[in-house]
Amino acid sequence: MLSYLRVMDETDLDWVMAVEKRCQRQPWSRDGFVRALHQGLNFVICDADDRRLGYSCLLPVLDELHLLNITVAAEYQGQGIGKQTMQALFSRFEGTQYAVMLLEVRKSNKAARALYQSVGFEQDGIRKNYYLVEDGSREDAILLSKRLG
Ligand SMILES: CC(C)(COP(=O)(O)OP(=O)(O)OC[C@H]1O[C@@H](n2cnc3c(N)ncnc32)[C@H](O)[C@@H]1OP(=O)(O)O)[C@@H](O)C(=O)NCCC(=O)NCCS
Repeated sequence: MLSYLRVMDETDLDWVMAVEKRCQRQPWSRDGFVRALHQGLNFVICDADDRRLGYSCLLPVLDELHLLNITVAAEYQGQGIGKQTMQALFSRFEGTQYAVMLLEVRKSNKAARALYQSVGFEQDGIRKNYYLVEDGSREDAILLSKRLG
């Protein structure tokens, strides 16, 4: 499925919140997305008919881009949309002031880890017991980065 990125705005938030609640283990609040709209670089992934497939939120910090959220709606997962989105993000920021993309991911998030590995992210370290698990225990975060351009 062909997809492209467009800038997210307030009119996307009802749809984004519905997907976020269904797809993320610890969903962001609506306020979290409103904050992201003010502070970050946020995109909706659309298909050729402008249908929304997913979204991605990045926070710029000096020459770093922190990938805070990438979500593909459940019905479109496993069809290469996540990979196309990452590649579209790399193309968009290649040759800009941003030198590196950084992220952290739950150790148990197999789909996300496979996605990041398939587009060339490398492991920088582990943050022990970083994430809360539903049963009250903690889980490690894997820290990954990829040079841009
Ligand atoms: C993580 C996520 C964005 C991946 O998007 P996707 O469109 O389903 O992924 P793709 O179809 O592009 O697959 C990309 C790679 O990951 C692999 N992959 C995808 N889902 C997988 C799974 N459940 N288990 C193992 N590997 C998986 C694919 O085989 C592919 O690898 P390849 O290129 O070597 O063949 C999607 O699963 C999602 O939205 N998950 C919920 C939200 C989330 O956890 N986001 C990340 C943290 S913010």
